[in-house]
Amino acid sequence: MKIAVVGATGLVGGEILDVVEEYNLPVDELLIVASKRSVGKTLTYKGNTYKIISIEDAIEQKPEIAIFSAGGSTSLEWAPKFAEVGTTVIDNSSAWRMSPDHKLIVPEINADLITENDKIIANPNCSTIQMVMVLAPLHKKYKIKRVVVSTYQSISGTGMKAITQMENEMNEREGEMAYPYPIVGNCLPHCDVFEDNGYTKEEMKLTNETKKILDPSIQVTATAVRVPVSGGHSESVNIEFENDFDLSEVRRLLHEMDGVVVQDNPDTNTYPMPLYAKGKNDVFVGRIRRDETQANTLNLWIVADNLRKGAATNAVQIAKYIIEKHLISA
Ligand code: A2P
Repeated sequence: MKIAVVGATGLVGGEILDVVEEYNLPVDELLIVASKRSVGKTLTYKGNTYKIISIEDAIEQKPEIAIFSAGGSTSLEWAPKFAEVGTTVIDNSSAWRMSPDHKLIVPEINADLITENDKIIANPNCSTIQMVMVLAPLHKKYKIKRVVVSTYQSISGTGMKAITQMENEMNEREGEMAYPYPIVGNCLPHCDVFEDNGYTKEEMKLTNETKKILDPSIQVTATAVRVPVSGGHSESVNIEFENDFDLSEVRRLLHEMDGVVVQDNPDTNTYPMPLYAKGKNDVFVGRIRRDETQANTLNLWIVADNLRKGAATNAVQIAKYIIEKHLISA
């Protein structure tokens, strides 16, 4: 099995390399792909040194799978070219997510939709993945009507440039800015770009991707906020159901969901936090309580490492699934 990691020198790319190993993917050859700036340089990973190759060279080698994390425009241009030579592309960008011809996959929820004909498979947005992992079992049981979500998103979601901005600010150094304002000691109600309706693209991803993955009838309204946290996104989520629920059954359903860990005990100050989710592949949920102002409504708090289950882990799980189900044809 030959696997290409496109964008291997980036933040998500590095996590992909780690998770490929953790999940024991049967890799004979790893193709390390980055931009022209990096071609010819080397990348040392777990004691092995790899030559960084160009995207053109990677296509020539016809890998069975290519995991992309190199931004939307790279993906729009190059993913179809890999698909043409028979490679299955798993794409982390937003390029293909809302295309009616492409599947948007969270393996624990809808991996069974994937067929051998799916040559470009989309990985959802990081904030969406951790939210739908918790919503899915609850929707099945109680039918969700409406979700109100506010996010507290780490700077790692913006890439290396944001990490540099935060380090510069902490060390009182001048430097290039990833955000329009300082991030240390601040919260920016501004993730990704603004759209015509006054929402940001990140907020609309939460709305549209949740509908595509779970059910178009679910109403989602979102406020996405960037906070000075180095890794791990948090979300305060209010969920209104069609049917009433029992809190202990909610806890049981979440406990039984693969990839979800319940951390919820006010007596011991037990609740999910990004500091402790960092480097983990699971989604953590806590602060589970009834919204006392409205019927059939629940409040909870969801945390996950946005570079892991929000990106790399989800992509590698898709790769593992298509390998195990023999859904690759290159
Ligand atoms: P490079 O390191 O050569 O710039 P991040 O989002 O963390 O900044 O990472 C982006 C990743 O996407 C990097 O690995 C970057 O490589 C890679 N990349 C950007 N543009 C291209 C391209 N046109 N072809 C291949 N890789 C690209």
